[in-house]
Amino acid sequence: MLLAVETSCDETSVAVVHDGRVLSNVVASQIKLHAEYGGVVPELATREHLRNLTPVAQAALRDAGVTAAQLDAVAATRGPGLPLALMIGFKAAQAMAFALRKPFLGIHHHEAHLYSPWISSDPSGPRAEFHRLVPNISLIVSGGHTLLVLVEGLLRHRVLGGTVDDAAGECFDKTAKLMGLPYPGGPEMDRLAAQGNPAAFDFPRPLLHDASDDFSFSGLKTSVRYFLAKQPQLLDDPQRIRDLCASVQAAIVEVLVKKTLRAAERASVRCVTASGGVTCNRGLRAALEKECTRRGFTLRLAERSLCTDNAAMVGILAEQKLRAGAPEATLDEDVAPGLALA
Ligand code: KG4
Ligand code: ZN
Repeated sequence: MLLAVETSCDETSVAVVHDGRVLSNVVASQIKLHAEYGGVVPELATREHLRNLTPVAQAALRDAGVTAAQLDAVAATRGPGLPLALMIGFKAAQAMAFALRKPFLGIHHHEAHLYSPWISSDPSGPRAEFHRLVPNISLIVSGGHTLLVLVEGLLRHRVLGGTVDDAAGECFDKTAKLMGLPYPGGPEMDRLAAQGNPAAFDFPRPLLHDASDDFSFSGLKTSVRYFLAKQPQLLDDPQRIRDLCASVQAAIVEVLVKKTLRAAERASVRCVTASGGVTCNRGLRAALEKECTRRGFTLRLAERSLCTDNAAMVGILAEQKLRAGAPEATLDEDVAPGLALA
């Protein structure tokens, strides 16, 4: 039985996992708190983690029907993330492991995202398929990162490329802000795009034909800014806003899908997976499904509730690491806010 803690950004989450199964996964989101500032305010996030962590941990133990004394290990996200936010969860989990005299593991946030497509409430679901479907190409796409990773086997992976500037989620959020949409812009763009015309406006597809597996989204954001500066009247018409959302979303999705599938073809894998907050996007999910079916790839998308940050993915990875004999962290190990995925 392992308890995992995730506090890298604006979600306070604690999960209890056992033998590859998620017994509980409690997430307290701070989205409403940060909405009035139009983005995550690190100081507020830290205070909110402090306030929420104990009740969230109590709820996770209660939901799982276990007591702290039954835990065999404790894990927490080590990085990357907001330094003080990480520290709240990491130090609390470390102290818990110390008090229980159990092993403690510090987990890489993105490596945890790699395992979220394999978590299922159904015991015969995707979890059981992991070994059959490696190697695979995994897209991690969130507010902070956009990564293409070749997963070669359990705990074995290689980063092929990443964003050279803004992450895809950041591009959704920033362009939504330019259109006057509420924070976080990604889900709102997704909702409005469903009723818009994706071919209404032609926005750039940065690095689409570049040979590398890297991404770039800041140019797209800038082009939306200039476009709206020239035609601000578009924002007076609700249908044109929906068309703008659909067109921006189409540009982001086309780059993500084409580059992911090109990487899969180059690596000669049979399976593609995706996780991270932007994987909630209905346009991205539909486009990945369509292209993977067309080109004969098996697709595993994280369940929507497990796309955004959660402790279940941290716990599932930590359990695998313990089984594989990973060295436990020493109790003076610290967070690593800028930790890169190797
Ligand atoms: O993985 P996540 O919860 O946190 C990070 O590690 O960043 O991802 C949050 C990001 C935000 O940028 C948010 O706007 C985006 O995921 N997002 C979406 C959708 N839901 C969340 N973007 C587009 N469409 C969505 N439905
Ligand atoms: Zn994340």
